[in-house]
Amino acid sequence: MKTDTAPATNMKQVVILGATSGMALEIQRQLARRGCELFLVARSAQRLAELQADLTLRGARKVLTYSANLAAVQQHAAVFDFAQRSFPKFDTVLLAYGSMHEQKDSESSIDVLLEELQVNFVSATAILTLFAADLERRHTGCLAAITSVAGDRGRRSNYVYGSAKGALSLFLQGLRSRLHPAGVRVITIKPGPVQTPMTDHMANSARFADPERVARDIVRALERRSPDVLYTPKVWRYVMTAVEHIPETIFKRLSF
Ligand SMILES: NC(=O)c1ccc[n+]([C@@H]2O[C@H](COP(=O)([O-])OP(=O)(O)OC[C@H]3O[C@@H](n4cnc5c(N)ncnc54)[C@H](OP(=O)(O)O)[C@@H]3O)[C@@H](O)[C@H]2O)c1
Repeated sequence: MKTDTAPATNMKQVVILGATSGMALEIQRQLARRGCELFLVARSAQRLAELQADLTLRGARKVLTYSANLAAVQQHAAVFDFAQRSFPKFDTVLLAYGSMHEQKDSESSIDVLLEELQVNFVSATAILTLFAADLERRHTGCLAAITSVAGDRGRRSNYVYGSAKGALSLFLQGLRSRLHPAGVRVITIKPGPVQTPMTDHMANSARFADPERVARDIVRALERRSPDVLYTPKVWRYVMTAVEHIPETIFKRLSF
């Protein structure tokens, strides 16, 4: 098992919404090595039990789990109640779940399109609003969510997923401003393509970023005063600045 030196951190009790995601798995390992306490939420009770055992072995001081489908807003109250009762001093919340359907499926099926918006945007804003109010009341903590570089500009090949992520980034921007007076940090995390189960069917996925490296950037952002918007790997900040400057008359002709 790889070890890394753990810098001092104020981050002690971390809630992970979407604990079975490929990126979350790496983040949780790094948090466990720092001795953090974790509250993990995901759909599969069995995978949560496996994670609880694994992360405890890796050094997590405590691992609580809760099985719920976070895309279903009606399940959020129970998740949040459990967090308030069993993990009331949480100081960091990371939203890490999401789905990326084939763009063509969202074009031919309104159900798929709406599900993509529900998972990546609607449900995300609902659960973040619950946790935000708690941190705001306590005048402490950090709220972070994984959106995507895909949200920076609408592209032919994935604009439904991209628009959900772009809307989530806008939501986080407003939430950041709302929570600033309370001293609560809000971090928008925008990864470029990363090697996870979400992308492993793609032809060029071997060239995508290593999730361990991306997780390192994310953990560093969570534990330090960091930019409000994190591009990871960092090169994507420059790539997306260039992409945003392509005139629309040219951009609409590009097939990527
Ligand atoms: N991989 C990339 O290239 C990339 C790039 C930019 C941003 N992102 C974003 O990064 C985040 C983490 O993704 P990942 O790459 O780690 O993907 P992943 O390994 O496929 O994980 C996706 C996570 O979302 C959950 N999920 C998927 N569909 C769901 C649904 N309908 N209802 C509830 N939960 C659902 C999954 O739960 P189960 O385990 O129960 O299926 C899993 O925890 C996502 O928000 C993704 O959009 C990914």
